[in-house]
Amino acid sequence: MAKLPEKLEQKLEKRRLDNALRALPETPSLIDFSSNDYLGFTRKEEMVNDTSKLLNEEKLTSIGSTGSRLLTGNHILYKELEDFLAVYHVSDSALVFNSGYDANIGFFSSVPQRGDIVFYDELVHASIRDGIKMGNAKSYKFAHNDLNDLRRQIERSQNIDGNTEVYIVTEAVFSMDGDSPDLKALANLCAKNNYHLIVDEAHAVGIFGGGKGLISELGIEKDVFARVVTFGKAMGCHGAAILCGNELKTYLVNFARSLIYTTALSPHAIASVLVAYQYLEQYGKEEITGLRANILYFKEQIHHLELEESFIQSNSSIHCLLAPGNQKAKQLSKQLKEEGFDVKPILSPTVKMGEERLRFCLHSYNTKEEIKNLLQIIRTYI
Ligand SMILES: Cc1ncc(COP(=O)(O)O)c(C=O)c1O
Repeated sequence: MAKLPEKLEQKLEKRRLDNALRALPETPSLIDFSSNDYLGFTRKEEMVNDTSKLLNEEKLTSIGSTGSRLLTGNHILYKELEDFLAVYHVSDSALVFNSGYDANIGFFSSVPQRGDIVFYDELVHASIRDGIKMGNAKSYKFAHNDLNDLRRQIERSQNIDGNTEVYIVTEAVFSMDGDSPDLKALANLCAKNNYHLIVDEAHAVGIFGGGKGLISELGIEKDVFARVVTFGKAMGCHGAAILCGNELKTYLVNFARSLIYTTALSPHAIASVLVAYQYLEQYGKEEITGLRANILYFKEQIHHLELEESFIQSNSSIHCLLAPGNQKAKQLSKQLKEEGFDVKPILSPTVKMGEERLRFCLHSYNTKEEIKNLLQIIRTYI
């Protein structure tokens, strides 16, 4: 094969030297403390069967969607799902994208215009940052979950005038820290000043608000300009949706390039999301209760083992043990693997240098014994 250009070789070499080279892992048969399958939906055989049943009932037997949603790919299940999502999440409209990544780049590359300003939490997901970079608006980050810093940044930006639309973006549950911002205060700030609040609920849907997300739990659906919900995490499927007003949906259908210039999701993919939501409504309560009990137990054990200082405070299914240095985080993860646990190290540059960590994802199907054993092993290393 042709040789890699020298510049790329050098970038790879730097990654190796920084102990940060990424590689595609094998699928381990270890105790799962790392997947996003928070409610265990990917393990439910009945959901696979119900998806097939739904496709047969709708006589949708083709494997592919055959084109972009704007051409031939917009099969009937899209409308069914979007109508359902709007009612379930209490939104005027919903627009399904192929992934959360696509939803975020589609929104942020097309909605904020030249002359507008986006303020984003410094820890927002890469897809939000990439979308902002692709657009023409100015952008400023504010310190993580720090409303005072956000207010300072807004005051400092000289160029807000009558023509400037201000967008503020955050996550309901941060993917790498597991913590949450004060969403009510953010919503108030936005309402008072006519700013537009966008909340990525990727790690909150299926867990908070009886499954509907943290915005629903707080009852502030009407105060948010747009929400991003994803189906690849607690819902156990694939894809995402932007929940928003009718006019914004029309705008995105016309201008969000990650929606327009890509093949639509297959009937099977959409059917599985519909089934997952049915399942969430029917049986979700039990799984969510199990997950919540495990989160509580995990926190109790951290307290009992006097590990609190090493963990980032979180009430979600994501908990992080700070283990500064790529080498240290990798080593701890390797040791846990040898003990049978799958816990991923999060390395720089994914997180800031010095903030490398082990990231524990908790699930409804983890047992108390697994949690206890895991944390006791950690205690011996710390
Ligand atoms: C906060 C957040 N937003 C968006 C995404 C992207 O979602 P998807 O995996 O559906 O592309 C992720 C996934 O890691 C995420 O954590």
